[in-house]
Amino acid sequence: MHLNMNGVIFLEQVAFKYELDITQKELINRRNKIDGLNLMSKIADGSIAACFFDPQYRGVLDYQNYGNEGVSRGKARSELPQMSEEIIVKFIGEIERVLRPSGHSFLWVDKFHLCEGVKPWFENLDLQIVDMLTWEKHRIGMGYRTRRKSEYLLIIQKKPIRVKDVWTQHDIPDVIMEQVKNENHPHTKPIKLQERLIRAVTKVGDIVLDPAMGSGSVWEACKNAERDFIGGDING
Ligand SMILES: C[S@@+](CC[C@H](N)C(=O)[O-])C[C@H]1O[C@@H](n2cnc3c(N)ncnc32)[C@H](O)[C@@H]1O
Repeated sequence: MHLNMNGVIFLEQVAFKYELDITQKELINRRNKIDGLNLMSKIADGSIAACFFDPQYRGVLDYQNYGNEGVSRGKARSELPQMSEEIIVKFIGEIERVLRPSGHSFLWVDKFHLCEGVKPWFENLDLQIVDMLTWEKHRIGMGYRTRRKSEYLLIIQKKPIRVKDVWTQHDIPDVIMEQVKNENHPHTKPIKLQERLIRAVTKVGDIVLDPAMGSGSVWEACKNAERDFIGGDING
């Protein structure tokens, strides 16, 4: 065992592979009931290959949510713990710390946040938005004007920005249709799409993080792609 610069204890036999600290190893490939910031505080700097972050936006419940003013909200959705912008910025700061250099983070955004702009969330961080993908849900939702059929996934990379040998799949279109059926969680994201992205930016043995895992769609994608997963949800 040895200490790194931040005082995190490493096991020599796993450090060469994952750079895991002892606590982190116990949290791998399971569903942890934990606050996402607390979970990430247990993860060593630069040890995560890729991260998916799907915040429980307060904006979704705000009257400003484009196209949905006054539309009544689903019970299941309103019962989930919400994240203020301040909390989201803290999550993104931690994601930057734990991501390895040139690692990717995928941030789910709704129409409201896409239009209002999320760039300030990345100020003073070594993170850059490098691409965006639209998920066509194959299901029509609510809306006073147009009705929602899509969500957006910002593709963010930790500096140094590199494509060659880091993004290895070049057949992924930037609009993807995938239907999701999950009665147990109102925000379940498409497993196949996330699996394709995981395969594009990680190798077998890499660790993928989801600090607000909801139904666990990213974990399912990791199992399919044979990647290790670390994640949790405050709701268990
Ligand atoms: C939009 S959902 C994630 C859905 C997930 N991507 C999926 O595919 O099922 C956001 C989740 O964040 C969780 N959450 C809210 N605040 C949290 C926190 N501080 N730490 C961890 N999870 C939190 C909620 O319980 C909710 O399940």
